[in-house]
Amino acid sequence: MAESPPITSPFVEAAPAARHAAFAELAAAGPVRRVMLFTGVPVWLITGYAEAREALAHPDIIKGKGGDGPHRDVVPAELAAAMDHHLLGADPPDHTRLRRLVSAAFTRRRIEGLEPGIRLIVDGLLDDVSAAGERGAPVDLLAAFGYPLPLTVLGDLLGVPVDRRRDFQEWTSVAINGSVHPAETFVAAATALIDYVRELLAQKRADPSDDLISGLVAVREDGDRLSEDELTSMVFLLLVAGYETTAHLIGGGMQALLAHPDQLDLVRADPDRLPAVIEELLRFNGPAQVATPYRTAAPVRIGDVTIPAGEVVLPALLSADRDPRQFPDPERLDVTRQPASHLAFGHGIHHCLGAPLARLEARIALGALIDRFPKMRLAVPPEELTLQASMLINGLTTLPVVVT
Ligand code: HEM
Repeated sequence: MAESPPITSPFVEAAPAARHAAFAELAAAGPVRRVMLFTGVPVWLITGYAEAREALAHPDIIKGKGGDGPHRDVVPAELAAAMDHHLLGADPPDHTRLRRLVSAAFTRRRIEGLEPGIRLIVDGLLDDVSAAGERGAPVDLLAAFGYPLPLTVLGDLLGVPVDRRRDFQEWTSVAINGSVHPAETFVAAATALIDYVRELLAQKRADPSDDLISGLVAVREDGDRLSEDELTSMVFLLLVAGYETTAHLIGGGMQALLAHPDQLDLVRADPDRLPAVIEELLRFNGPAQVATPYRTAAPVRIGDVTIPAGEVVLPALLSADRDPRQFPDPERLDVTRQPASHLAFGHGIHHCLGAPLARLEARIALGALIDRFPKMRLAVPPEELTLQASMLINGLTTLPVVVT
């Protein structure tokens, strides 16, 4: 098969419209296509909605690998073991076992119980936004609100005491953005974070409370429980998976609304509509541009293409969610759209475990922003905003707004 030139365009720093255009161009060349990534790795990029959904649920499209995060060539084996034994890298039957055990602790009740705390965190952060934005000075809504909110919520969920929050937040932001830091900085932060998670595990074992770590430690089913490496890896995964994604749902969601004032007016007129609006924001501009890589365990037919065994498969969620065969007029943000099942949280056995938490945070955060700052507007024209260079995240570098 003829090899196309390596693709870089969806992964570089770019304006939001340019990234969507890059995915649209890839989708126009076919819903399932082998492309060469700029990293030199050939992948089967799945840009069609039906095809991506089928691939994500296919039993022969698996993870089939250990951890392959940043700097894995220099990460000590013991540290790698404490980061990599989690469900996103696992296949059945390991995945089934891990997901069952973790779901027993990550319950809807525990998530719903976070709501009053999230409201308090949101109100406190927005007081600061309001003070910083007095007299019309621009505020970076991502730095002041989008990032601190999910990180504080994750600290609450896991039961990190307030006096350790600052260290915890610092290690987490370096560890989850490993690829933008030199290897030694990443290894130092990841080691400190994992050591601290082990300390927390020991504390919660000795003195359990009602946080998630205590819940994970206590989970036991049919004599089965999570091992020490599985526990540390799970906490690590929750931080990696739940921090930036949620920050960019809030940042990217608010940016999309501010760039479409007619749509923002509709939401303001009927705040009860917010849950459905958030689904449209996830479809229109989801925070995960692709899923994490999968691999074919056998030849697999997706659409009218057969992918040979042993190939890397990359579902492009951002383009699948703008597939005109699934979503009429997909380039239009339409907050009145009947919520349809988008792929922003993935699909199949790895469907996002944290989706209810992300939705709850987004509903409270966007509701409060819209309510408290009726005059909020972008401080720069939408086309001057830029997205970070990333293989995975669809997130702005900054979101300057004027709040008064
Ligand atoms: C899995 C997106 C928030 C925890 C996933 C996957 C996607 C995703 C696309 C599947 C990846 C794949 O198939 O390779 C998002 C988005 C979020 C978000 C867009 C925010 C808007 C969260 C939060 C948490 C979380 C808040 C937890 C605190 C997880 C976990 C998995 C996962 C544990 C792995 C599930 C498994 O392998 O069974 N997420 N996520 N996510 N997410 Fe999220």
